Amino acid sequence: MTQSEAVFEIMQTILYGVRNLDCPDSIKRYGACPDTRFSQMPAYNDLGFTDEQLNGLVDYVYSLAGENHDAEAVENVSGLLEICAECHREDGMGYKPFGGPDLTDDIWLFGNSREQVLDVIANGRTESCPAWSATLDAATIKALAVTIYNRSMGY
Ligand code: HEC
Repeated sequence: MTQSEAVFEIMQTILYGVRNLDCPDSIKRYGACPDTRFSQMPAYNDLGFTDEQLNGLVDYVYSLAGENHDAEAVENVSGLLEICAECHREDGMGYKPFGGPDLTDDIWLFGNSREQVLDVIANGRTESCPAWSATLDAATIKALAVTIYNRSMGY
C-alpha cells in the first residue's frame, strides 16, 4: 500500500466511523450506515463455550503473542481454533477484510491481563466510532489522517 492509499484508508475510517449505526434507516445498508467500517468480535459466552474452553482460548492468544501459557490448555481447544482463524488468520496475524486484529504483536486493544483477554473472548466487542463527515471539514479530516499515519510510522 502506498502512503496516499494508507492515508485514504484512515480518512475513510474518520469520515464514516466504525460500526456506525447513527443514520436514518432509509440510507442504511445491511443494518449499518453507508461506508462505515464493520467488524465484530463475537461473544463466545453467548455462543455456548464453557469456562474451560474460554480459558483455554486465553492461553491460545498468549501462545500467539509469545507470552507464558499453558500448552496443554491450548491443545485442549485446538478443535476450536479454526473459528478464530476466520478473522484472525491461522497464524493469528489478523485478517483485514473481516477486521480481525493481529494477535501476535504486543498491542493489546483491551489490556493483556487474563481477565481482560477472557472478557474480550467471552463477551465480544462491538463498540462503535462515530462518523465525522458531518462535523469536520475535508482539510481537517485529511490533516488528522496524515497525523495518524505519521504516528503509526513513528515519524
Ligand atoms: C467474525 C470475526 C471474528 C472471529 C470469528 C473472532 N474474532 Fe477476535 N476479534 C475480532 C475483531 C473485529 C476484534 C477487534 C474488536 C474491536 O476492535 O472492537 C477482535 C479482537 C480480539 C481480541 C482482542 C485483541 C487485542 O488486541 O486486545 C482477542 C484476544 C480475540 N479477538 C480473540 C479471538 C479468539 C480467541 C477467537 C476464536 C474463539 C476470535 N477472536 C474469533 C473478530 C473476530
